Amino acid sequence: MLKHLVPVAGVVAAILCSHTAMADPMKTFEGRKLFQSLCSVCHGAEGKGDGPLTKRMDVHPADLTSARTRARSDEELLDIIAGVDNHQPSRVMPRWGKVIRDTDIEAILAYVRFLQRSKHRLEGDPVVGRKIYQDYCVVCHGEGGRGDGIKADLLPLKPADHTNAARMDKLSNQELRNVILKGGAYMPSWSNTLSPSEVNAVIAYIRLLAFN
Ligand code: HEC
Ligand code: HEC
Repeated sequence: MLKHLVPVAGVVAAILCSHTAMADPMKTFEGRKLFQSLCSVCHGAEGKGDGPLTKRMDVHPADLTSARTRARSDEELLDIIAGVDNHQPSRVMPRWGKVIRDTDIEAILAYVRFLQRSKHRLEGDPVVGRKIYQDYCVVCHGEGGRGDGIKADLLPLKPADHTNAARMDKLSNQELRNVILKGGAYMPSWSNTLSPSEVNAVIAYIRLLAFN
């Protein structure tokens, strides 16, 4: 039933997805929120292993962006985070499988992969950015950022696909700011609508859409 609703009503899908299984467009975004509340105290906001609690700890939380952690498979990391069987790396690291859902752990992993892979930092708050994106950008760029919004078919040029991670990684935050402020051949300029911090916020949000 749910499957049939999704393509018909993006709005319904978005509401349902935030409560049930995580659909791809939102995954890294949800994962970031969970990471900030559950992991950053030890592993740090950017996963470097330098959270505020580390000063009081004997064992140091791992740098999740290190080559060692990057080399681990998704399955292995899901087990480590959940703390299943022999996979608890240290007694200090909580067994998250006991307190959060599998879908939450998958979303957290998506954000950990983002921290490992994205060349560019988030300079704005993606929670603020999501609201701006929904108000102004969804019509053309689509709910999930794939360039398939309801206005897309009316334009001679396809709106950019923000889920193309390679493309997004090629563009610096400054380059994205320039495009958003100036607009393009078929994209409006946002310089009179959005403040500098709102532009950074929406950039942070579309960067997360690229890694789902
Ligand atoms: C109370 C502190 C603490 C919290 C909170 C915490 N961790 Fe850890 N974590 C640790 C410690 C300590 C280690 C072991 C470090 C080592 O073995 O080098 C660790 C290890 C890990 C590793 C293994 C890295 C590797 O490659 O060996 C992963 C992955 C990890 N944590 C992810 C998470 C995630 C995701 C969260 C949030 C859901 C989280 N941790 C929350 C302390 C913490
Ligand atoms: C009227 C439709 C429309 C709206 C609304 C719109 N865009 Fe666009 N956007 C486009 C089109 C079409 C392009 C392709 C470039 C061009 O038009 O020259 C584009 C390109 C972009 C690019 C360039 C990406 C790249 O890979 O080169 C970014 C970034 C972008 N848009 C962000 C946004 C943001 C953020 C918003 C909301 C604040 C937004 N757009 C709203 C139509 C739109």
